[in-house]
Amino acid sequence: MSILSGKRILLGVTGSIAAFKAADLASKLTQAGAEVDVILTGAGEKFVTPLTFQSVTGRRAYTDEDLWGDEAHIVHISLGKKADLLVIAPCTANTIAKLARGVADNLLTVTALAATCPLLIAPAMDGGMYDHPATQQNLKTLQTRSVRVAGPATGRLASGLSGVGRMIEPMEILGYIRIALGKNGKLTGKKIIVTAGGTQEAIDPVRVITNHSSGKQGYALAQAALDAGADVTLVTAPTALTPPVGAKVVHIKSAQDMLDALMNESADALIMAAAAADFRPKETAKDKIKKRDGIPQIPLEGAPDILKAVSGSGSGEKRFKVMVGFAAESQDLLQNASEKLKSKGLDFIAANDISARDAGFAVETNRIALLFADGRQELLPLMSKSEAAEKIVEHIARLLK
Ligand code: CTP
Repeated sequence: MSILSGKRILLGVTGSIAAFKAADLASKLTQAGAEVDVILTGAGEKFVTPLTFQSVTGRRAYTDEDLWGDEAHIVHISLGKKADLLVIAPCTANTIAKLARGVADNLLTVTALAATCPLLIAPAMDGGMYDHPATQQNLKTLQTRSVRVAGPATGRLASGLSGVGRMIEPMEILGYIRIALGKNGKLTGKKIIVTAGGTQEAIDPVRVITNHSSGKQGYALAQAALDAGADVTLVTAPTALTPPVGAKVVHIKSAQDMLDALMNESADALIMAAAAADFRPKETAKDKIKKRDGIPQIPLEGAPDILKAVSGSGSGEKRFKVMVGFAAESQDLLQNASEKLKSKGLDFIAANDISARDAGFAVETNRIALLFADGRQELLPLMSKSEAAEKIVEHIARLLK
């Protein structure tokens, strides 16, 4: 997660039971390489202690005592000045009201008023408080000042009631933080489409032909493009993964669905990371094929070659300025990839050896070779799929410049 590496995140924690989840958020941010300073309000301290945060961030956590301590004159200004982003999670209705009015009566709200960095809040409150016109008005006021509001979600509230007011999960808040930090990235103002996952070609209403693709590399690419500030559409075959926060998600099943989805979209670049089917059953049985009828013969036909159809190398025209493909090979990696680069009319192709145990399908790492239309080649070492995605996104940004 290089977008978080070295970033200074100031995390405000106010008085809600969701404060215990803020410790998880602080931990995740720290693990991703961010420097996390925490400010607890008095009410926040009733739910979690400064020690909790010090233990996960390895840094001092601040409380209202610091507002009146020896360094008071520095603390309230310097924390907000040094930060890349101020995140208040959970953010109660009370703190939202104070922020909207510019009230500064504790270290957190004093800091928020003095801070020059962007502000992201994750509201958390009990039934009715979120819907109250006062809260709604305060949130609107904050949004007109470009404050980012993440959530809240609907679900079980501390009172036992169900309603809107639950703080969204730390992983999701992390997604919003990434978007806030990526705002002025290399792909700001650009639209990128990423395809992911293994398509499913139906045999009958129950059975499909598919492949081992997990979608991990495609989802990592969508996240990397979001981190770079792009407007991202993820066209995805069924996977077990959670799409990154901020991506527009189009769910499809077959290669034909994927092609149709791409024909409906326009973008600056297409990254075709999906493992789309090459073959599909000639016909899909309307009803479940029964065992008692014996072993079926399932004639296959070719599925559309999506890249050829949208790159201008087939009969259509090139729909995207930059087009990137993947080559999944088990032999003659560079030669096969180079042929695909040309035949599919791509700007570059990422070739990976799917026979390697530490690269390709399902695993967390990848070892790719990038082959460019002008003949250049870049052989990348083994790296995480996120790192590989960042490399690919950097090349796309360069080509779109
Ligand atoms: N691809 C596509 N449409 C298909 C199949 C694949 O657009 N029906 C895309 C993939 O998303 C990938 C590239 O083409 O970006 C190469 O896919 P790959 O499976 O490596 O090659 P194929 O073209 O399917 O050829 P082969 O299976 O014979 O290696």
